[in-house]
Amino acid sequence: MPIVAPSLLAADFLKLQDECTMLNESQADWYHLDVMDGRFVPNISFGPMLIEFFRKATNKVCDVHLMIEDPGNYAEAFKKAGADHLSVHIEACRNLHRNIQQIKELGMKAGVAINPHTPVEQLQDILADIDLVCMMSVNPGFGGQKFIPYTLTKIKQLRRMIDERGLSVLIEIDGGVTLDNAHSIIAAGADVLVAGNTVFKSADPKATIAGLKAIS
Ligand code: DX5
Ligand code: ZN
Repeated sequence: MPIVAPSLLAADFLKLQDECTMLNESQADWYHLDVMDGRFVPNISFGPMLIEFFRKATNKVCDVHLMIEDPGNYAEAFKKAGADHLSVHIEACRNLHRNIQQIKELGMKAGVAINPHTPVEQLQDILADIDLVCMMSVNPGFGGQKFIPYTLTKIKQLRRMIDERGLSVLIEIDGGVTLDNAHSIIAAGADVLVAGNTVFKSADPKATIAGLKAIS
């Protein structure tokens, strides 16, 4: 069964308590929380303050995806806010290994996120040190975009790299995931499905989450 991580970016922020209750009662595994700074990506979302509220609202894993410059400056703040996983973009880190060590020393699981144009080969030397790769299947910054099909090739390449070395790094796919394309994403070798609009804009979000969980 895939791990399902609804992205709260697509939630109704006037009804956040209801959205959290729905997720808590659903088969969702993780809360996927998208932090944007208006510099690394052309959009601004939310920061540690809101994550503190999500932390209080759920016992599920808080999977925080940082789309920000200089993420090392904020790792401690996100730990304090209650993040369980912290993913940083390879394109935003001049000292990626240092950032990963810092996240792990703070007691969080460490993820590396990669943009659609970034080859998976760039993960080779950090792969053994991380828990998760957040592979972007759209350009980061906005929910509701169309899945980039070449991602499927990248998932297969990364799956091979992980399996050849006997590692247990999770492959998380982020952007444009739907009930229609989820099967090919899982078949290519992904472990985690992030889904924003597919879940929150559906008529029955809980059933949609169950539908994603049932994909094999
Ligand atoms: C995009 C974010 C995604 C986004 C996914 O920058 O990282 O997590 O919320 O939204 P959907 O599933 O609507 O493409
Ligand atoms: Zn994300």
